[in-house]
Amino acid sequence: SLRRPGFLRGAWSRRHTLVKAATPPHSVDVAVIGAGAAGLMAAGRMGQAGLRVVVFDHNDEPGRKILISGGGRCNFTHLDAAPRHYLSANPHFVKSALARYTPADFVRMVDRHHIAWHHKSPGQLFCDGSARQIVNMLMAECPAGQVTFQFGTRLTAVDHCEDRFCLATTAGAFEARSVVLATGGLSIPKLGASSFSYDVAKRFGHSLVPTRAGLVPFVLSGGPEADALRDLAGVSVPSRIKVAKETFSDALLFTHRGLSGPALLQASSYWTHGGILGIDLLPGGDALSFLTDGRRRRPRAALATVLSELLPQRLARFLTHEVEETETMANQPDRRLRGLAERIHRWQIVPAGTEGYAKAEVTCGGIDTRDLSSQNMGSRRVPGLFVIGEAVDVTGWLGGYNFQWAWSSAVAAAGGA
Ligand code: FDA
Repeated sequence: SLRRPGFLRGAWSRRHTLVKAATPPHSVDVAVIGAGAAGLMAAGRMGQAGLRVVVFDHNDEPGRKILISGGGRCNFTHLDAAPRHYLSANPHFVKSALARYTPADFVRMVDRHHIAWHHKSPGQLFCDGSARQIVNMLMAECPAGQVTFQFGTRLTAVDHCEDRFCLATTAGAFEARSVVLATGGLSIPKLGASSFSYDVAKRFGHSLVPTRAGLVPFVLSGGPEADALRDLAGVSVPSRIKVAKETFSDALLFTHRGLSGPALLQASSYWTHGGILGIDLLPGGDALSFLTDGRRRRPRAALATVLSELLPQRLARFLTHEVEETETMANQPDRRLRGLAERIHRWQIVPAGTEGYAKAEVTCGGIDTRDLSSQNMGSRRVPGLFVIGEAVDVTGWLGGYNFQWAWSSAVAAAGGA
């Protein structure tokens, strides 16, 4: 079968030539590669503008990442989406697309489809029901007859011949005036992530900003501290995390392998190997005053007992494990309380690494924005080629910013294709 994995390129070419001789290529205006958030949005917009569009995906269904996003409820946007919430070698690149298709625009579409939603934190919007409503909405926005879908289809070649693109696929040959690369980043290969957009862009002369896993849990190396930390798996506390020049205030979650939770996921996108995480386990509090006061209030209690008024018991025990349990608060010297307070507010960790693409919500880096128009996502090297969504070197914070980039960049490209 043509869909057999590992199908030889030469064999495919010979077969393809035969097919081509018998069946002329399907001719469309636009071929969108990737039926994820960005690809579906772009296809809908272009179909509504009267273009004939074909959307390819090697998965058997559209929007698999949307379906699992936001714990199944899809955090589909953040009302506050602004350029400062995005990482890119060119921080200005996102401005135009975000300004022209805003979170409010997307919410209007969601409302038009009668999808109920709520704020989780201010501005962070989720479906009340299920993420499938978002996929259904995006599919419903694609006018039948204008937009066709080729699921379970593998692309074996994308070539630019004169003013058209020729696509060889396991569903036959296609010709298109424009091609939109929308296959996303490398995160979660088991959902269908691939380097397809990077590879095609590279072959057409685009450069790539090196990629790394983003919004991903940290892994700690071995050693006594890391071993002791494993006993904290499941403990969650409010925290403030400093990484490079950024600070994130949100929950920290101890895991069997290291550290996770929203604050750490955010930090991971800014972290590079060897980087230090500065962790404040009592943001906005004053651990030293609390401990000094505790020594007055509960002189006969153990240090861990007093600290567990402030922090989860297991964490309090971990932070005080060097102190004899029989030593009462009354016997704790100032120096020790100061040292403990310092650790609570300025704990420093150098993670061994991250859980990588298998567990990452996004991929940092990607197709360099230098050769793309920020107005319509069009390639400056190959007319008619567009790149949208996560495949571009644009990575949003946690909180709905990545989907907003997918929607905004898709709408920008739809205006240019
Ligand atoms: P996306 O990954 O959505 O789509 C790419 C499509 O291309 C896929 O359908 C894939 O099968 C297809 N494809 C790949 N290679 C191909 C090939 N070679 N041939 C054909 N098709 C190919 N963001 C957010 O804002 N709010 C949230 O709640 C979440 N939650 C979340 C949870 C989890 C677990 C993950 C992994 C990610 C999130 N995200 C998120 C991030 C968000 O899902 C992501 O940024 C967008 O889906 C990116 O949209 P794209 O359309 O660019 O890629």
